[in-house]
Amino acid sequence: MEAAEINFNVFSEVKSGVTRLTLTDFRNYAFLRLNAELAPIVITGENGTGKTNILEAVSFLTPGRGLRGARLADIKRLTPALVPDEYQPTEISNNNWAVSAVVQRDGDEIEIGTAVERSAREDDEEESRSFDRRIVKVNGNKVSSQSELGKYISAIWLTPQMDRLFRGGSQPRRSFLDRLVYAFDLEHAKRTANFEHLYKQWYQLLKSGCRDNAWLASLEESMAALGVAIAAARREQIAKLNRFIETEPDDVFPNVVLELDGQIEKMLDKSPAIEVEDFYARRLCEQRRNILYNDSVDGVNRTDFKVFYKKKRMSAELCSTGEQKSLLISIILAQSKCQTLHQGFAPVLLLDEVVAHLDDIKREALLEKIRELRVQAWITSTDAELFDSLRGKAQFLGLENNGICHDRS
Ligand SMILES: Nc1ncnc2c1ncn2[C@@H]1O[C@H](COP(=O)(O)OP(=O)(O)OP(=O)(O)O)[C@@H](O)[C@H]1O
Ligand SMILES: [Mg+2]
Repeated sequence: MEAAEINFNVFSEVKSGVTRLTLTDFRNYAFLRLNAELAPIVITGENGTGKTNILEAVSFLTPGRGLRGARLADIKRLTPALVPDEYQPTEISNNNWAVSAVVQRDGDEIEIGTAVERSAREDDEEESRSFDRRIVKVNGNKVSSQSELGKYISAIWLTPQMDRLFRGGSQPRRSFLDRLVYAFDLEHAKRTANFEHLYKQWYQLLKSGCRDNAWLASLEESMAALGVAIAAARREQIAKLNRFIETEPDDVFPNVVLELDGQIEKMLDKSPAIEVEDFYARRLCEQRRNILYNDSVDGVNRTDFKVFYKKKRMSAELCSTGEQKSLLISIILAQSKCQTLHQGFAPVLLLDEVVAHLDDIKREALLEKIRELRVQAWITSTDAELFDSLRGKAQFLGLENNGICHDRS
């Protein structure tokens, strides 16, 4: 949909998000069930009461490794001492974690869930080893790919760790961008996971001194094909957001210009995909030696996502902490609106300690924008008073002793 066709009435009809969330042996929760409003949800409690863990659980309803990028093994609840009095599981040790939810989309209710399962893998030496695997269910049936979840829910998050997003290495920026792409292109989650898998295989073969050229070349061809598709999807998403942002008011959350800095993405400006794919496969072949010398390999696994503060003509990297947070908020607000306009359903926003670096004006402006967008936004804070303007318009959950101590609006 082009900017001229934007129909802002769709925002008044948005009703999507999680309506019930159940956690089992997830982090500090032995068992937690909560009913959620399709409205802002303010979660407050002292440090360490489990606010971020609830947001992380919701993030596991989307493809990937959740908002902490955690290893599956770290999520399982660690100590039986944390079991609240009213809940007595029959078997405490060795339980695997699970998150399940009822989500609403277009008036339909769908049950989705994700859990960890221990599977056996046959090794070459015919010995079997067990490993943890994340499984996904939709309406009680196991589905083969995590990307299926994207049909029912999408989520965008901001965490305190992302305060450094513009300062460090490019990997977290790339993941942030790729998550924005998933929301529009479900295949993108699969493509990036497959690319990573092939890259690891290629890397390990080269490190182990493999000389099987045919095998290496076939991996390079597959990586090149996936890589070009990844680059094209990223370019499309950036163009879509930039076009949309141009129509947005440049207010407390300043307008941004988004750019991709990647060899393959840049080549797609000038050359047809098929030529870029050939070039990429050749380039990977030329770079086999780099792996042996621990040098980096060019390609979509090194692309950077650049953000500029439009009015100031300043790279986000050089902006203040509060400005950087505002730029990120601008991006996620634009993405939320774009998703709602193009897809008719809004993402769930997971905003962990988001008001921490915002002054009073920006905090109130953000809360107002969330209300206007009618998205379900899960917002954590240690200080409930900062959200007084949402009284009567949001759900307020208080946490204590690994459970909910109050639930009111
Ligand atoms: N695998 C696990 N098993 C049990 N407890 C865990 C596990 N992983 C983390 N925790 C604990 O969960 C508790 C809640 O963590 P969480 O990050 O959700 O707190 P929070 O309320 O967001 O705190 P803060 O205000 O400091 O951000 C912490 O005490 C943490 O040590
Ligand atoms: Mg926290």
